[in-house]
Amino acid sequence: MNSLVSSKDLRRHTIEMLLQNAQDFMDKDQVRTSTGTVANLFFENSTRTDLSFQMAAQRLGLRTLHFDVSHSSTSKGESLLDTLETLEALGVDVVVIRHSIDWPKALEGYKLNMGLVNAGSGAFEHPTQALLDALTMRQHFGSLRNRKVTIAGDIRHSRVARSNLHILTELGAHVQFAGPDSFRPSDLPEVPWVDLDEAIEETDVLMMLRIQHERHVESTDVSTYHEQYGLTEQRLRRLRSDALIMHPGPVNRGVEICTAAMEDPRSQILKQVKNGVEMRMAILDWCLQGGKYGKLVSA
Ligand code: CP
Repeated sequence: MNSLVSSKDLRRHTIEMLLQNAQDFMDKDQVRTSTGTVANLFFENSTRTDLSFQMAAQRLGLRTLHFDVSHSSTSKGESLLDTLETLEALGVDVVVIRHSIDWPKALEGYKLNMGLVNAGSGAFEHPTQALLDALTMRQHFGSLRNRKVTIAGDIRHSRVARSNLHILTELGAHVQFAGPDSFRPSDLPEVPWVDLDEAIEETDVLMMLRIQHERHVESTDVSTYHEQYGLTEQRLRRLRSDALIMHPGPVNRGVEICTAAMEDPRSQILKQVKNGVEMRMAILDWCLQGGKYGKLVSA
């Protein structure tokens, strides 16, 4: 099996291959029956990622195992590794994992003969989200080379921003971040930090991010956030007519983005959700193509 645990492991040719395979699933309404069993382990809540992985597996003809973390033996103290070894012994082929910790790092050095897919690891990575975001941009622009992508909001706590940075940069786009200084990430000093009001007219893609309150140590006051840092109706008017508005969801309307922006023809928000199914079909299919003894980290 192949595994997809970090966007940093994906080079351009692998990204292009995955994007094209996802596009083929969409354009040709391609039916591909793969064999295998997929289990989703979600230790954090999810609507889009969990359901789209389930839909992707079903459309590939894969068996899916329902794994409800709250009813599992993890509540009795079983570790993530022991849970995964149990799934391996049961004959599961691919496990899709979302967890609040940097779980790929926690599993480093352990050998599991299953494909592992990162559906979100703390504030570190969300590579399948970044791939579906790239697919959405590619459908609109063709090539992403030299496209300017502004990611605005709570960058410090965002796994989406980190994974998008790697995938989009690998595809030749220029990524810049915007938001309150308190959300500026200390681990990414090389990424341009811009004022949204100065950057908005020259951006090709504006990706708004939710404030990740669940990762904040202290509560954050959002009473003036929308006017200061959000995509307001006024900023929406200044966005180019051919620019894209994106958001990985879930959205907090009236905080990082106004309702008018969500309903604007430039908004790709529901298209991102839709693209998530075919993108995850391509990812699961690729994991299963990797043979019995793939690598924990992808090629
Ligand atoms: N974008 C995203 O990961 O959404 P969910 O938390 O609903 O899966």
